[in-house]
Amino acid sequence: MTSTLLRGRTLSFVRWPQTIDDHSAWRYEEDGGLLITHGRIVASGAYPDVEKQADEWTKKIDHRPHLLLPGFIDAHVHFPQMQIIASYGAELLDWLNTYTFPEETKFANAQHGRRVARLFLDETARHGTTTVAAYCSVHKASAEAFFAESHARDMLNIAGKVMMDRNAPEGVLDTPQSGYDDTKALIAEWHGKGRQLYAITPRFAITSSPEQMEMAGALCREHPDLHMQTHLSENHAEIAFTQQLYPWSRDYTDVYEHYGLLGKKSLFGHCIHLSEREADALSDSGSVAVFCPTSNLFLGSGLFDYQRFRRRDKPLRIAAATDVGGGTNYSMLRTMEEGYKVIALNGEKLNPFQSFWQITRGNAEALSVVDRIGTLEDGTDADIVVLDARATPAMRLRMETVETLAQELFLLQTLGDDRAVREVYVAGRPARSDIAI
Ligand code: GUN
Ligand code: ZN
Repeated sequence: MTSTLLRGRTLSFVRWPQTIDDHSAWRYEEDGGLLITHGRIVASGAYPDVEKQADEWTKKIDHRPHLLLPGFIDAHVHFPQMQIIASYGAELLDWLNTYTFPEETKFANAQHGRRVARLFLDETARHGTTTVAAYCSVHKASAEAFFAESHARDMLNIAGKVMMDRNAPEGVLDTPQSGYDDTKALIAEWHGKGRQLYAITPRFAITSSPEQMEMAGALCREHPDLHMQTHLSENHAEIAFTQQLYPWSRDYTDVYEHYGLLGKKSLFGHCIHLSEREADALSDSGSVAVFCPTSNLFLGSGLFDYQRFRRRDKPLRIAAATDVGGGTNYSMLRTMEEGYKVIALNGEKLNPFQSFWQITRGNAEALSVVDRIGTLEDGTDADIVVLDARATPAMRLRMETVETLAQELFLLQTLGDDRAVREVYVAGRPARSDIAI
């Protein structure tokens, strides 16, 4: 197999950047090279050094003056919600009942699931996202469609069929037994096939009966290496309803705790209105809180207190995500732009290095896959995004006054979107395709 040698301005993080001057937190090469063989980065660094390791058959691609970063990671997204993104006028529970659940009933049709899975992964690639943690619908066929499409593209994706057996229309309900059986079958078929990873996915406490929560806990015990993903503390009405459904619980987090769903591979979407006790429980268990700023603003859910969660004595592990279709954009750049504003409303700042750390290495750490993706380290998978900070006339004009890498990154985050993504590589192969519906 021939190798590929990419040339450009490479940027990859080695740890959380404390400040804008914390240079040892990242590796930046003004003239960088990445040598890729069999889908992996085998050499990286200054271009002249990396070039020496290439052979005469190596295909060379020059992306200068663009930036080469690890592909973006979206830690929480609903692929069956593509056709309800931008639905007007509701808070969480009404939004679910009015738009989301009816929409997801369509995924009983496997053909529909295959079409949307294909378009969804086209769309994420166009936005520079190379890995997602995705919720499928309740239907086994929707997860099969997602994994088949992801596998065909050789993407590292994490996904699961949602388990939900109450408080929703018949067309999106399973039962404790069928939810368990379908999940088992999907794990057997897809987990570890190529780059695919399965996540046990009870939608949230409101749509699972205690019997189903028991089953979800059993699945986690039987498969301790798997991810678990669900929603937690997004909206006040949701919290109150959960308390009604599980009257014995100390708080919302206690419900998941009770059924054994907390842990290092557990991803909790939103986590906006946590008590200190709940934050302690998440921290003690190594669970991950997933920040979904565009969704939290769009649904009026609240402001995730990112910096306080990081700083507390028992800090939270944090990921960032779009939460499409509650979220309003597929772009992790747009997501961090809104994230910046949410954090600003809490009286804090997130500097641009921290932002780009979050959507690359930070999310890879939160998803426990940093040995494989999220950096440009030798030996990791060659999932790479190429970013152009002069992608639009307004960006080009603003770039005339930009003097530092930090300013360029902040410009990309504030003005950039899919137009700033010049190319995407998945396992070393170009993957940006224009949507053909
Ligand atoms: N809580 C339960 N399901 C969902 C969903 O699909 N989106 C959001 N934002 N919150 C949820
Ligand atoms: Zn969600």
